Amino acid sequence: MTNKTLFEPYNLGSLTLSNRIAMAPLTRNRAGAGFVPGDLAAEYYGQRASAGLLISEATQISQQGQGYQDTPGIYSQAQIDGWRKVTTAVHAKGGRIFLQLWHVGRVSHIDLQENGSAPVAPSAIRAAAKTFVNNGFIDVSEPRALELGELAGIVNDFQQAAANAIAAGFDGVEIHGANGYLLDQFAKDSANVRTDAYGGSVENRARLMLEVTAAVVAEIGAGRTGIRISPVSPANGVSSSDPQAQFDHIVDQLNALGIVYIHVVEGATGGPRDVAPFDFGSLRRRFKNTYIANNGYDLKLATSRLAEDKADLFAFGRPFIANPDLVERLEAGAPLAQVNPATIYGGGEVGYTDYPAIAASRS
Ligand SMILES: Cc1cc2nc3c(=O)[nH]c(=O)nc-3n(C[C@H](O)[C@H](O)[C@H](O)COP(=O)(O)O)c2cc1C
Repeated sequence: MTNKTLFEPYNLGSLTLSNRIAMAPLTRNRAGAGFVPGDLAAEYYGQRASAGLLISEATQISQQGQGYQDTPGIYSQAQIDGWRKVTTAVHAKGGRIFLQLWHVGRVSHIDLQENGSAPVAPSAIRAAAKTFVNNGFIDVSEPRALELGELAGIVNDFQQAAANAIAAGFDGVEIHGANGYLLDQFAKDSANVRTDAYGGSVENRARLMLEVTAAVVAEIGAGRTGIRISPVSPANGVSSSDPQAQFDHIVDQLNALGIVYIHVVEGATGGPRDVAPFDFGSLRRRFKNTYIANNGYDLKLATSRLAEDKADLFAFGRPFIANPDLVERLEAGAPLAQVNPATIYGGGEVGYTDYPAIAASRS
């Protein structure tokens, strides 16, 4: 047992965070024309800047990497300029923010792809998943398998996106290796039946995720690079026959790359924490830098897991939607506001920037 508290400062590499609570990445589908985050996004993130660390909504590294309508990108100058407003707003309030770098792989729809082409994937296996396109949830499209010669281009897109994120003023990036998107599709054998160096063994299935991480580290430094993984989450229709061996290996290699954090979705994303047997403590012990825990945390669980030294930081997702001042509310033991499900995905300020802080909601 330790006497740490959630509300004390924490050193994430060379960055000092004001507390141990992170805002988990939350897709809100409100980017403007050209997939540029607008002034409302700056207001929304600024309102939540009292989190020790904000992690942005997933942000596509290329048009090919997009899978949902109106999600922001980080591959054009206009997008970089839009994001700079967000980072400026967060930094003005003393917050820290990482950008989540995203390639959805097969979780996409032809309507979002260049010239209506098929989404790409490790193998031509369609996901049992839906995406949000044309203002509704519809089945994802049939993907095509990436050719071996295309993978270097994807690694390069992640690397360029990391450079763009730093140009936009982010404190670092989080590589999206979770939730059934491209890098997780490669890692999990339900989605990856390749017979080349990127399929088959534990080492081969980890290869793309690790090459991407190494490229991002080379570009912006290990101290500014984190990654999100979800070893047993069935999100977007993936599963692994050997998750413990797979993710023990991945985390050993990430540790060797010296990245600043791993962000672990413990269980089914947004669902049960005990969805499958898995020893998350093994990842915690293998990784020497910061371990961010996520999934279904509340004040009580985060407090007890911190006391047991099971994690360094705790990412809260859904509670941040309706509680911009979540940190203050948790510290005060104040009640939490509830999310309106109708305004989560898409729209304008309603259900986005109009949830009040508690002092305001009392007046
Ligand atoms: C509306 C919504 C959007 C989400 N968007 C993302 C995302 O962009 N990237 C990601 O890695 N996870 C995303 N997630 C998953 C959350 O980050 C988090 O893992 C999940 O909500 C469980 O944490 P919680 O119990 O604290 O909400 C999203 C979840 C929700 C509810």
